[in-house]
Amino acid sequence: RRVVVLISGSGSNLQALIDAQEHDRLGGEIVAVISNVPDAYGLTRAREAGIDAVVLPHREYESRDAFDGALIKVIERHEPDLIVLAGFMRILSERFVQRFLGRMVNIHPSLLPAYQGLDTHARVLADQGKLHGCSVHFVTEELDGGPVVLQAELDVSPEDSVETLKEKVHAREHLILPIAVRWFLEGRLQFSGEGARMDGHLL
Ligand code: GRF
Repeated sequence: RRVVVLISGSGSNLQALIDAQEHDRLGGEIVAVISNVPDAYGLTRAREAGIDAVVLPHREYESRDAFDGALIKVIERHEPDLIVLAGFMRILSERFVQRFLGRMVNIHPSLLPAYQGLDTHARVLADQGKLHGCSVHFVTEELDGGPVVLQAELDVSPEDSVETLKEKVHAREHLILPIAVRWFLEGRLQFSGEGARMDGHLL
């Protein structure tokens, strides 16, 4: 089973996937890593693991549609079973989402449906939220709104700052993302019109 990972930054979630693969815990192989940011550190992580690392700078395309078209081509060349958005900071077009509907997941730093969008840690703190965490979800046209597959939660302590929360959430992202990928690649996890299904049961 083949996985393509899309990144824009440090790629610590990509690293968690690489580590899982190296321990035979991913259920498949990462065949390519694609970044829209040329100096994303995740590209180095991919190269060090011997994975094809592709740079596709969005700035070089005149429209979102042109960029998404190029991205679709690169992805399809690698014939993935699953596409993982791991810190990919671009909003995707309807065409792109439709093309890969049901075989694309994202890791998001909040307990969805709470705190869709950016700056989740700061917003939880501003709201004096008691509970925070992260979610893996299928990607649909609604930004951060697709069916949730797996979540990890943690208590917010009064001493937490954006930085400490970010670190704690990140550690949990690294735990749940490889698990969700494995479930999918093993055929246990599916996307249906009603939502995500695990072993045939609606989550
Ligand atoms: C993570 O916090 C993820 O939830 C969000 O982007 C960040 C990516 O971090 N979507 P990294 O590049 O995997 O370190």
